[in-house]
Amino acid sequence: MTIFSVQSTIFTRASVAILSSNGLRRFSFASSSFSSNALYSSPLPKTKKRRFPIVSAVDIGGVTMARNDVVRDDDPTNNVPDSIFSKLGMQLHRRDKHPLGILKNAIYDYFDSNYAKQFEKFEDLSPIVTTKQNFDDVLVPADHVSRSLNDTYYVDSQTVLRCHTSAHQAELLREGRRRFLVTGDVYRRDSIDSTHYPVFHQMEGFCVFSPEDWSESGKDPTLYAAEDLKKCLEGLARHLFGGVEMRWVDTYFPFTEPSFELEIYFKEDWLEVLGCGVTEQRILKQSGLENNVAWAFGLGLERLAMVLFDIPDIRLFWSDDERFTSQFKKGELGVKFKPFSKYPPCYKDISFWISESFTENNFCEVVRGIAGDLVEELKLIDSFTNKKGMTSHCYRIVFRSMERSLTDEEVNDLQSKVRDEVQRKLNVELR
Ligand code: DAH
Repeated sequence: MTIFSVQSTIFTRASVAILSSNGLRRFSFASSSFSSNALYSSPLPKTKKRRFPIVSAVDIGGVTMARNDVVRDDDPTNNVPDSIFSKLGMQLHRRDKHPLGILKNAIYDYFDSNYAKQFEKFEDLSPIVTTKQNFDDVLVPADHVSRSLNDTYYVDSQTVLRCHTSAHQAELLREGRRRFLVTGDVYRRDSIDSTHYPVFHQMEGFCVFSPEDWSESGKDPTLYAAEDLKKCLEGLARHLFGGVEMRWVDTYFPFTEPSFELEIYFKEDWLEVLGCGVTEQRILKQSGLENNVAWAFGLGLERLAMVLFDIPDIRLFWSDDERFTSQFKKGELGVKFKPFSKYPPCYKDISFWISESFTENNFCEVVRGIAGDLVEELKLIDSFTNKKGMTSHCYRIVFRSMERSLTDEEVNDLQSKVRDEVQRKLNVELR
């Protein structure tokens, strides 16, 4: 499916797989245009054309982070490429005229007016977190697929680029916060298509209740929290989408029990809007909350913004092209994006014999590292195993710029670099 499976949650039960089974999970990769927060971009190496600036430091909420501390050749665990490093600190969600900022502000408005500004807002927490914050504190099992190097960007064995805003739940609870919204950029190694990008934005909501909140209702605390959660989020969906049809779907997350997904009926399809649930007691207890219940939710801003603003390709969020940026105004939710001319795509196929260590995410990483945002999609179009047990994959790479027509020469050059690097880095044999 299209947008509606956009960067969906990786924490449902289906994802609970053994780390070593790296079959055909989603791929990924990175890069893009110019980073406004890129301090001290160094001059491009003379011999290599790059699709993104090599940035030597970024500013993350006022803290300068040097490239060499995040992109490290000396640590085999490190898998953060330059293209991803350059995105740190860009904080698209803090731009009031950007669709993501407009959407975030609309969600803030809903909470401010319905909860008398009781929800504290955090949107500047560093995306570089410990594995404890990202996984252990929210009870992600030791063998969960999201912990693998194939899925998450590791700075070192104990530090990652957060893959969800849930990474901040425990620390904020320990600081004594009881109702909060956390918005931020999150990072996942993933597939390449119009709805997947290795950096996207989430908002986390969290609300703690005390016995006096539920005692009058006479309800069991978990039921009380679940009902309050559903009422809150149905109201939010109406605030954003108007009078839409909605449904709740039971699901699984390590951090909540019960867990739900909210879906809305949009353009003749059910669209998953967010994940949520009643927080596991262990999470509250480990933060010193013994006699409470809480609810939490997490939603992907791109997914909602693509629908609300009719944005057809996730790469557009990163575009500095005036024809994109000038279409949105502060406070105007749901202005429909008018696509400027679509430039022609260029298709290139590549076939190779894979080795055991091959993963699609790694392949995507190589392609994005070379082509940056000029790669629109990468799909497996053929796969077979011969009598000797060797497996061949054929991928179609779609190159297309959002901003101009690509020349044959340029695309051939990209493809030839892809062929070279795939062989060199991924231990595959070209056919
Ligand atoms: N962290 C989840 C994800 O990225 C989303 C989520 C689901 C957040 C349920 C929550 C929650 O707080 O309760 O897939």
